[in-house]
Amino acid sequence: MERTLAIIKPDAVARGKIGEIIRRFEKAGLRISALKMVHLDKRQAEEFYHVHRARPFFDSLTTFMASGPVAVLVLEGETAISTLRAIMGATDPARASPGTIRRDLGTSIEQNTVHGSDSPESAAFEVPYFFQGPETFDYVRVDRHKGGDGPSS
Ligand code: CMP
Repeated sequence: MERTLAIIKPDAVARGKIGEIIRRFEKAGLRISALKMVHLDKRQAEEFYHVHRARPFFDSLTTFMASGPVAVLVLEGETAISTLRAIMGATDPARASPGTIRRDLGTSIEQNTVHGSDSPESAAFEVPYFFQGPETFDYVRVDRHKGGDGPSS
């Protein structure tokens, strides 16, 4: 079982898209193991995105990520990391496939609505960055309800 970190970014929170995005996570069969809202300060955003510190967009990205609250989730599944990345789509919404979250909801390469861990190594840093052990939950997801949003419906 894999775990990955998802962030619903400030642009999506401000536009009332939290529910729409979480619906897509659940519809893809991902199990929500933890979720909360936080407002990062600039230093925390820099810490979280430290792998990008040499990039020209680092200052703008971290200013944007500290510009408003975000929703953060731990998602679980057999292939949670690649499943999440597939439904998010390419980093640049203009290049993302139709039907992906970024293509449907993103407005720019920076304001691209969602972040997801890109590897097991990233997830191992990113999940504990936001969540302590007792804040994550294990349970059996049951997809029995016909007509619901589960993968079996
Ligand atoms: P994310 O998946 O959160 O990981 C790093 C983020 O940097 C990425 O999504 C984009 O929001 C942002 N990013 C990547 N490339 C660029 C770019 N060329 N210009 C501006 N922002 C970028």
